[in-house]
Amino acid sequence: EEPQSFYDAVGGEETFRRLVHRFYEGVVKDPVLWPLYPQDDLAGAEERLQLFLMQYWGGPSTYSQQRGHPRLRMRHNPFVIRSAERDAWLKHMHDAVVHLELPEELEKRLWDYLVYAAHSMVNAPDA
Ligand code: HEM
Repeated sequence: EEPQSFYDAVGGEETFRRLVHRFYEGVVKDPVLWPLYPQDDLAGAEERLQLFLMQYWGGPSTYSQQRGHPRLRMRHNPFVIRSAERDAWLKHMHDAVVHLELPEELEKRLWDYLVYAAHSMVNAPDA
């Protein structure tokens, strides 16, 4: 028997849709982050992040079919990401993760990854 993927364990597509939707509800109200995002393509941005996370955790590979190799560091090069942007990103993501009300062990695994990934996305020193 195949071991259940993390993707399935947390509830599949619906869980990632809820996570990313809640996250962007915070982003649009954030004066540090929102200016970085495509103002006219919020739905597209939501879909890209949702599909990436689904693929990362063992769900369908639709992200790479549409976007190719993730190369996330490179794709974030156009945006200046210092600790302030990273921490704002993590603040909204934490709110969204907690809102899922996952079992503690699954929540921890998801959150630990997001913290690690956000730290690796910093591409500019603090002024
Ligand atoms: C795209 C900002 C961290 C995954 C974007 C975009 C911005 C952004 C402005 C463009 C929105 C779009 O058009 O899709 C940031 C900031 C971060 C951060 C300020 C702070 C650390 C992360 C992390 C991940 C991630 C930790 C993964 C866990 C993505 C993905 C896309 C994206 C998958 C779409 C890439 C594409 O296919 O074009 N991010 N991001 N980001 N971000 Fe981030």
